[in-house]
Amino acid sequence: MSDAHGGNIYAVARELDCRPDAIVDFSASINPLGPSPMVWKAIAAARQFVTHYPDTSCWELRQALGHRWGIDPEQIVVGNGSMELIDAIPRALKLRRLLIVHPTFSEYERAMARAGGSVVTVYAQREQDYAIPIDHLVQLLDSSKGRARSFEGLVLCNPNSPTGRACSVEAISHLAKLAARRKLWLVLDEAFADYCPERSVLPQAASWPRVIVLRSMTKFYALPGLRVGYAVASRSVVRRLRAQLPPWSVNAIGQVAALAALGDKAHAEKSLRFMGRARARFVSLLSTLPDCRVIEPSANYVFVELPQGWQAETMAARLKRQGLLIRDCSSVPGVSARAIRVAVRRPSENNRLIKALSTLLDDRNG
Ligand SMILES: Cc1ncc(COP(=O)(O)O)c(C=O)c1O
Repeated sequence: MSDAHGGNIYAVARELDCRPDAIVDFSASINPLGPSPMVWKAIAAARQFVTHYPDTSCWELRQALGHRWGIDPEQIVVGNGSMELIDAIPRALKLRRLLIVHPTFSEYERAMARAGGSVVTVYAQREQDYAIPIDHLVQLLDSSKGRARSFEGLVLCNPNSPTGRACSVEAISHLAKLAARRKLWLVLDEAFADYCPERSVLPQAASWPRVIVLRSMTKFYALPGLRVGYAVASRSVVRRLRAQLPPWSVNAIGQVAALAALGDKAHAEKSLRFMGRARARFVSLLSTLPDCRVIEPSANYVFVELPQGWQAETMAARLKRQGLLIRDCSSVPGVSARAIRVAVRRPSENNRLIKALSTLLDDRNG
C-alpha cells in the first residue's frame, strides 16, 4: 500500500516495536464504535464457509443492498472494497481523461494511470475552506467545446477526503443532468456518506444514466480488514464493471459480515448519534488549539491546518512516537505542508490527541 494512505498500523508497530493494536489510529477514519455485535456472531457462524469458494456474484448481499436502497440488485456490483471498483472504472468505461477536484483521494488518479489514462485537475480553494467549486464544474461540463471535450468523466468525492467538505444533493443532481446531456460520466465516491445521509444521492441516482455511485462497508460499518464495497449504476454499467473484476474477489466472510452489518439498524443509528456528539466536541476542542485552522466536517474526520512554522510531517512523526497516528496531508495536491487529517474517535482517545497536540504546539520551536 502506498504511504499516501492512513491506517498502516502494521508498519508503525514494527517501527515502534509494539503490537498493532497498541497504536491509536487517527489516520484511517473508521467508526469508533466498531462493527455491529451481529457481525462477530455472523463471522463465528460462517466459519465453515472458509472451505468453499465465495459466491462470486455476491447474490445475497446484493439482495440486501437492493432492499436497503429500494433498487434493483442487478444495478449493484460488489467489489473487494470500493477500491477495487475505483480501479475497474477507467477500464470498464474506457476512460482516457478524467476530471478530478483536488485536494481529494489520490486513488482516482492512480487508477487512471494504471489504465493508461490521465487526469484533468481543478482545485478547490483554501480561501473558500475547500468548498467543492460547483459553479466552476458546471461551467466545465456545460461548455460544448474546449475543456469539456478533453475529458470523458468527472469524479467527485462526497463528502470529500481529506477536507470533509460535502456538496448538496441539488448541486450533484444538476451536475448529473449536465453529464447526461454532454454524454460524460459522473462518478460519485460516497465512501463516507453514511455520516451525512442528507448529502447522498442514493437511491435516486440509480435512475441517472451516466452516474456511478460508490459506497464502502469500510468506514461506517467498520470492516476495513474484510474489504467490501459496492457500486450502484445502470444495469449495463454494472455488467461492464463486473467484466473487469476477477472471480471471487469478495471473500465469503466479508460477504457474511457485510450482510450482518446492514441488518443491524440499531447499531447504525447509535453510530450516527455517537458521531454527531463526538465530532462536535472534538471540533470544538481542536478549535481551541492556538492558531490552528479547522474545517467544519461532514464526515467522521477533521481537516486541520497547523500554525505557521509547523510541518505536518514533523507533527505526525512526533505524535507517532507517542503511539498516535495521524494523516499527514502534505503530499495531497492543493493543500499546504501544514495540513493534517484526524479521525474522530472515542472521547477519551480524542482527549489524548488534543493533549498531545496542545503540548507539542506549545513548543515554540515547531
Ligand atoms: C474517499 C475514499 N474512497 C474510497 C476508499 C476505499 O475504501 P474501501 O476500498 O475500503 O472501500 C477510501 C479509503 O480510504 C477513501 O478514503
